[in-house]
Amino acid sequence: MKRPFAELLGTGSYTPPRVVTNDDFSRMLDTSDEWIRERTGIRERHIASDAETNAFMGKAAADVVLAEHGLTPLDLDAIVYATASPDRLLPSQACDLQAILGAKNAAAFDVGAACSGFLYAINVAEGLVAAGQARRVLVVAAERLSKIMDWTDRATAVLFGDGAGATIVQPATGARGILSTYMKSDGTLAELLYRPGGGALQPPDEAMIAERSYYIHMAGREVYKAAVLSMADACDHALQRAGLAAEDVDLLIPHQANIRIIESTAKHAGMPMDKVFINVDRYGNTSAASIGIALDEAVRTGRLQPGMTILLVAFGAGFTWAAMAVRW
Ligand code: ACO
Repeated sequence: MKRPFAELLGTGSYTPPRVVTNDDFSRMLDTSDEWIRERTGIRERHIASDAETNAFMGKAAADVVLAEHGLTPLDLDAIVYATASPDRLLPSQACDLQAILGAKNAAAFDVGAACSGFLYAINVAEGLVAAGQARRVLVVAAERLSKIMDWTDRATAVLFGDGAGATIVQPATGARGILSTYMKSDGTLAELLYRPGGGALQPPDEAMIAERSYYIHMAGREVYKAAVLSMADACDHALQRAGLAAEDVDLLIPHQANIRIIESTAKHAGMPMDKVFINVDRYGNTSAASIGIALDEAVRTGRLQPGMTILLVAFGAGFTWAAMAVRW
């Protein structure tokens, strides 16, 4: 097993206080708590207020991890931000965060990998650290999906939530740190999960509004099938690259999209469900933020203890998928 180049210093997260339950949705749409719970495992999700912008949530998560480790924004050499729902399309969400943090020594940029974004961003940060280009990289993954999902479409609206997660990547000093990473994409499947309008291809116009093409469009069944296969593939590769077997993993923290996808991934990876972290019931799918929020909750509840070996795995639009083995 290779010695880690970089470690995750700590975690932070933020989720909006406003909770929207399945029953709330059943008053707005032709759906039910039973349908949503059976098909997805989701009971409720957190939805941002007008004041809780993507940058606000990202900063709140970043503030926690910085403060807990006695760091200030001036200690950061880089900010890598993963999001599919930025406050605006230009400049990057990372530069907006840099401005409100006052992290004036940092280079700041976004990573676009949808729900795999947190793992992709950590992998980029690890590369900066390993190449000696940065000593401390803030990785933030935040989503305000409530602004880009179609609240009139029962097939997608019930799935998503808002929130943010953060970590700091720095050079490893011992055995703890990132043991392996695997990333893969398949752009030929982009149109199974995408936002057709609102970019330079179809700039905002009346047709875009009439067709509701600004919102997330998803072929749920196809996404489901690809997610199951891809997350299994990613787990296999990350374990193999780290020289680990499933029994060596103390905790699997998968992207929280759907309980059935999580169960299937765990089964394939050979992990019993009592070693799988689950919070999709309370947050829904927060895309890039999902693993960051789960990781932080695992730390704060004592589920994740120093010395444990964990496996993080994600799948998202693109399609993109990734897994990472980490000694905590
Ligand atoms: N309430 C009630 N009925 C619904 C709802 C709802 N919220 N949503 C869809 N239905 C209906 C459909 O209209 C359809 O009705 P019909 O048979 O009369 O046409 C029926 O339920 C079955 O629809 P399917 O889409 O085939 O249902 P399925 O069993 O596949 O479950 C689901 C849908 C939950 C979306 C599932 O496909 C899924 O989880 N897919 C993966 C989605 C996902 O995780 N996406 C994100 C991953 S990547 C990322 O995180 C960005």
